[in-house]
Amino acid sequence: PVYPLSLRVNGEQHQLHVEAWVSLLDLLRDRLALTGTKKGCDQGQCGACTVLVDGKRINSCLTLALMQDGRSITTVEGLADGNALHPLQQAFVRHDAFQCGYCTPGQLCSGVGLINEGQAQDRAQVRELMSGNVCRCGAYPQIVAAMAEVMK
Ligand code: FES
Repeated sequence: PVYPLSLRVNGEQHQLHVEAWVSLLDLLRDRLALTGTKKGCDQGQCGACTVLVDGKRINSCLTLALMQDGRSITTVEGLADGNALHPLQQAFVRHDAFQCGYCTPGQLCSGVGLINEGQAQDRAQVRELMSGNVCRCGAYPQIVAAMAEVMK
């Protein structure tokens, strides 16, 4: 069986019908073709699938799509304002905060969520509070530098 699901994704309202077992990650990628959000581990360990739900960071592989009924989702595709990249995206470019880029959508969403939370005061806290976002290329110093610039 499928169940009705109402989601706002990157400002666009969607009325969907979804099986109970579909994760938010699979819904975004496979049903809405928003493939910017990446599937790394599919079990909550890498952070590549991070998106914002009502502005808060979440591993989209760990939540069922139906559990987010009525919520507003922002994916990496929704961070820019038209042609203007989000300030954190601009900072990532300036600081060369990626190498292969696979973790970048999750890093960006996590970073924007962390800025929304307002919890991180310094680079060490950024590193700690973004430790759920793994970068196999080891771009952490540049990612933290980009975050520090935007948090100023
Ligand atoms: Fe969700 Fe790795 S794919 S945490």
